[in-house]
Amino acid sequence: MSVVKPNIKKSKTIPSEFYYSRIKFEEIKETLFSKHWQFICDNKKLSNHGDSFPYDFIEGFVEEPLLLTNQNGIINSMSNVCTHRGNILVETPCNLKDEIVCRYHGRKFDTCGKFLFMPKYEGIENFPSENDNLKKNPCHIWKQFVFSSLNPKFPFSELINKMNERVSWMPIENFVFSKQRSRDYIVNANWALYCDNYLEGFHIPFVHKELVKNLNYTEYDIEIFKYSNLQLGIGQNNESIFNIPKGSKDFGKKIAAYYFWLFPNMMFNFYPWGLSINIVTPLGPEKTKIKFLSYIWDKTKLNVGAGANLDKVEQEDEKIVEQVQRGVKSRYYNQGQFSPTMEKGVHHFHLLLSKFI
Ligand code: FES
Ligand SMILES: [Fe+2]
Repeated sequence: MSVVKPNIKKSKTIPSEFYYSRIKFEEIKETLFSKHWQFICDNKKLSNHGDSFPYDFIEGFVEEPLLLTNQNGIINSMSNVCTHRGNILVETPCNLKDEIVCRYHGRKFDTCGKFLFMPKYEGIENFPSENDNLKKNPCHIWKQFVFSSLNPKFPFSELINKMNERVSWMPIENFVFSKQRSRDYIVNANWALYCDNYLEGFHIPFVHKELVKNLNYTEYDIEIFKYSNLQLGIGQNNESIFNIPKGSKDFGKKIAAYYFWLFPNMMFNFYPWGLSINIVTPLGPEKTKIKFLSYIWDKTKLNVGAGANLDKVEQEDEKIVEQVQRGVKSRYYNQGQFSPTMEKGVHHFHLLLSKFI
């Protein structure tokens, strides 16, 4: 996709076929998603030694069966497939104590995936070997959040560093998950179109008539980093903004929201009430799931400012994105250009897509 040029003024968007082609959709499982980092869960699911959490790498998309375990306080991620005949080892989150035992023929592993024992295998050549252990996959914890990858193209630090520098003054480890305020949305559009829409504030005054009252739209800006970017939501009044400490580079600014995007499909939106994590999962060329996970810091601030009424904002975004999905399939549409001030984030995303695909 060489059409995406580093100079935003000379560049065009990715060709529209990317948003509806079944072939492209299948290709990016391997060429893109298997090579990058994914948010998995929070570490509260793995607080004690022996706790385990089975997961598909990307449920409904890249269905590699994996397993997180806590071994003496260290969290590991590994294959959840028995090295004997391929049975799934752990089906539901549970405490394994010290061993993973396969329920098919009794093979045992330690909680780090090392082979321990197999019944009726006396005299077998080259046994046990390295291949009898469960393969580990890269996994990192940031604050309370667990990320993993199958075969990452770049180190986790390159994904997370900029967000870490900017928001670490907040007590993110102590934010509390709210099931009641978390939900999944299904959108009849391509996952990248949903990201495109998130990555520009250009549409806010047109699509979000209520939200725009809480934001100082004229001060909209985006900062581009290597594999992430940050849109700053500047507040209109003092009730709905962060109380930013002196050490932060944002001290003195009226910030109502930090909208961080992590390549390729993760959004970390920080508000004075806490954090809304949005994970964009492709389910089909024209079907996407967006998982909204809410982590509360200060519940007294839930209903004020840019972080209030997120459900309404989401529905407005979905409506427009579904409409664009119909439009990009038109024989008369193929590519557009970018606004150099308002669409730097979309351009950044398309440049990364063209770099990695
Ligand atoms: S498949 Fe696990 S012991 Fe046979
Ligand atoms: Fe929007």
